[in-house]
Amino acid sequence: MPTEEPAGPLTPAAPSEHPSASYVLHVNGVDRPVSDAWIGESLLYVLRERLGLAGAKDGCSQGECGACNVQVDGRLVASCLVPAATTAGSEVRTVEGLAVDGEPSDVQRALAECGAVQCGFCIPGMAMTVHDLLEGNHAPSELETRQALCGNLCRCSGYRGVLDAVREVVEGREATAEAAVTAPDEDGPRIPHQAAPGAGSVQAHEHEGDVR
Ligand code: FES
Ligand code: FES
Repeated sequence: MPTEEPAGPLTPAAPSEHPSASYVLHVNGVDRPVSDAWIGESLLYVLRERLGLAGAKDGCSQGECGACNVQVDGRLVASCLVPAATTAGSEVRTVEGLAVDGEPSDVQRALAECGAVQCGFCIPGMAMTVHDLLEGNHAPSELETRQALCGNLCRCSGYRGVLDAVREVVEGREATAEAAVTAPDEDGPRIPHQAAPGAGSVQAHEHEGDVR
């Protein structure tokens, strides 16, 4: 005959070693819900493994290589170092968000055209760094560009192609801006309205009523 366990004080459930959370990330302008994720998961992990955005790369997982760079609220961050849950409510921009109408951005095109890409592993992070640099500095010097790139490691091509790409983007944007200023107005030339000769002139008022 089974014996009954003596009633004892209730033991509170032990706290989970892996507490989870559900939250919504705002990535490239789209709300992306994340369910039951361990709160320690990095933004890089969540982007790649939960949201299928594999542009940012995992080169070192410790903030040294820049391959995982993304923007959070307009600031460049190493997404491997940022807990994803802390970015809920922030604007996250990844390399997938650089394209305009499905076309690569001028930064992405220039990196390809200037020979910056060999194996390509570092390029998403490079593209984010260059994009971020040019958002804050429309015409960086070579030294400023080198300083901006000092957190991005490339094992293949070196950095000459990236420096050339930055210069090409700057020149391209300047040419576009100049063309926009000098282009004739599509609505046709603007001819200022001219009053009829004498109308409203000072002289006309001076001699008003003068019948000599
Ligand atoms: S993977 Fe984040 S800096 Fe290297
Ligand atoms: S192109 Fe291979 S690591 Fe940069």
